Amino acid sequence: MSQRKPFIVGMGGTTRTGSSSEQALALALRYAAEQGAETKLYAGKDLLLPMYDPDPGAMTDQARHMIDDLRRADGVIVASPCYHGGVSGLVKNAIDYTEEMRNDARVYFDGRAIGSIGCGYGFQGPGMVLAQLRAMGHALRGWNVPLGVAVNSAVVKFSDGGCSEPAIAKQIEIMAGQVVDHARRFMS
Ligand SMILES: Cc1cc2nc3c(=O)[nH]c(=O)nc-3n(C[C@H](O)[C@H](O)[C@H](O)COP(=O)(O)O)c2cc1C
Repeated sequence: MSQRKPFIVGMGGTTRTGSSSEQALALALRYAAEQGAETKLYAGKDLLLPMYDPDPGAMTDQARHMIDDLRRADGVIVASPCYHGGVSGLVKNAIDYTEEMRNDARVYFDGRAIGSIGCGYGFQGPGMVLAQLRAMGHALRGWNVPLGVAVNSAVVKFSDGGCSEPAIAKQIEIMAGQVVDHARRFMS
């Protein structure tokens, strides 16, 4: 068994600092850290990247740092708001940058545990986002953990690192634990 800590990268949120999806993601990373993981958060403005362009000259330093961390990651947790029935353009564009990993030995999200969180203002949107994020994780050859978390932001509030609904906090904790646990399995 590897002595190295699993490295878990979180990507998501909106351009609004402190959005529900950003806080849900930060909570997931806190739970992952409590399970012994090293974590890195790419949230909100960190994801304000140019529209992905496969031209080799188009990579920015900001995007390169994110891809370097994703290459090193043993697990990834993605959180997106529902924008007009689906994953936001900000989060989808960040995911599209994983095309830079197409020629890696561990191509895309191969050999990585993937956790997903969908947020929306109602019950329908978060479920649709969750399904889309899990389809993207699958398309990228990642291993979706069993539990995905759907957050109705009209009901569930996040503040000061906490969550108003204990049942949602518990789901986030279980999902983060599954990501860390599966990451450890891949590492061994
Ligand atoms: C451009 C835009 C489109 C949105 N479309 C939807 C939608 O289709 N379904 C939905 O449930 N919520 C929708 N929302 C609400 C966001 O999903 C919600 O604000 C987000 O999940 C979390 O809220 P917060 O970022 O304000 O904390 C939309 C919000 C914006 C700004």
